[in-house]
Amino acid sequence: MTTYDFDEIVPRKNTNCIKYDFARERGMPEGLLPLWVADMDFRTPDGVVERLVEVARHGIFGYSESKDDYYRAVADWFSTRFGYAPERAWIKKTPGVVCALAAAVRALTEPGDSVVIQTPVYYPFAGVVRQNRRNLVDNTLVYRDGRYLMDFDDLEKKIVDHKAKLMLLCSPHNPVGRVWTRGELARLGEICLKHRCLIVSDEIHCDFALGGRTHHVLPTVDPALNEIAVILTAPSKTFNLAGLQASNAFIANPELRKLIKDEIDATGYSQLNTMGLAACQAAYERGGEWLAQLLAYLEGNAEFSRRFFRERLPRVRLVEPEGTYLLWLDFADYRLPQEELNRRVVSEAGLWLDEGVMFGAAGAGFQRVNMACPRSVLAEAWERLAGAFG
Ligand SMILES: Cc1ncc(COP(=O)(O)O)c(C=O)c1O
Repeated sequence: MTTYDFDEIVPRKNTNCIKYDFARERGMPEGLLPLWVADMDFRTPDGVVERLVEVARHGIFGYSESKDDYYRAVADWFSTRFGYAPERAWIKKTPGVVCALAAAVRALTEPGDSVVIQTPVYYPFAGVVRQNRRNLVDNTLVYRDGRYLMDFDDLEKKIVDHKAKLMLLCSPHNPVGRVWTRGELARLGEICLKHRCLIVSDEIHCDFALGGRTHHVLPTVDPALNEIAVILTAPSKTFNLAGLQASNAFIANPELRKLIKDEIDATGYSQLNTMGLAACQAAYERGGEWLAQLLAYLEGNAEFSRRFFRERLPRVRLVEPEGTYLLWLDFADYRLPQEELNRRVVSEAGLWLDEGVMFGAAGAGFQRVNMACPRSVLAEAWERLAGAFG
C-alpha cells in the first residue's frame, strides 16, 4: 500500500494556477500566502496521474465519449459510499458544477422566477441566479452559538410568498462547513415536495464529511425527492482535478433530465474533454485509499487549527468544520469594518483569504480559509494571523 506524504510541499508557482500565479491580475499584492480558492496543494492520486500519462502518451486527443465502465465507476462510488445508486440514464456529464448550476437555473425556471439560496453560500449561487435574470430569494442561514442552522419557517414562507420554483442547496455547505443531518434534509425536502419547489443539490464536497459525520445524498433521506431533485457531483474537489472540468449530475426524473440536457445542448456543448473523462473514471476506480489518507490528514489539520485558535487566538472563533476543507473564521469580537478586517489580513498578516462578504452580506466579519495544504503551510498562516490579530 502506498503511503502518501501530504506534508510534502509541491511547488505550484509558475504553473499558471490561479491560487499562486494571478495575484496582480486579481487585484492583490504579490507575495501573499494564498489560502483562498478551493483547490488543494496536494498531488492527485498516483493511479490518476498514471492514467493521464497513458492517455497523453497515446498522443491523439480526438473527440471522446464514455462507455459502461465510466458510468459503473461513478455509480459504484456513490452506491458504495452513500447508498445512492444512480442508474446510467440518470447521469448527465457536465463541464463543471457551476456550469451545471447555471444550466439548471435556465432549464428549470423562466426569467423573473424566484430561486432560493441560503447565504452565506458559495458566491456563484447568487451569480448564476442574477446573471440569468432570475429573482434571488435568500433564506439566510441562522448563526447561533457558533453554529449554522436552516430557518425552515422562513424557507417555507419565502417559497410560498415568492412562488419559488427552485432552490439551490449546498450540501455539505461551503463556506460554513455544515454537513446537513438526515433530519435537516428531510425537513427541507418535505417543504419543497409540499410546494413543488425543485431542488438543485450541489454535493461537490460530499466526500469531505469530517469528525465521523455522514453525508447524505439528498434523495437517500426520502426517495420521493428523486422526483424534484437534481444532484450535482464531481471528482474535482475530492481528487484535486478542478482544472480538468469533469462533473456528473444525477437526474432521476426524465422530464427534468430532458430540460437540462436540452439546455446544455442549446449552448453547443457536446462531449467532455478526453483528460477529464479519463481522470474522473480513474479517480473513482483507484482513488479510495488515497482519499482515506487525505481525510485523516485533513482531520489533523482541523485539529491543529482548533488547538491553535483555542491557545493562541481565542478572539477568533473557528466555526466547527463538519465538512469540506474550508474553514470559516469569525472575527466579530474585533468589531472591525470589513475593509479594515481585510486590510489586516492582507497587509499585516500577508495572507490571501476569501473575505466573508463574497458569500453574501451574512458573511460580514468572517474570512474563509482553505486548509487543504501541508500542515507547515497552515502553521505559517496561523502564525501570521496571530501576529496581526493577537
Ligand atoms: C459548492 C461548490 N460548488 C461548485 C464549485 C466549483 O465547481 P466547478 O469547478 O466544477 O464549477 C465549488 C468550488 O469551490 C464549490 O465549493
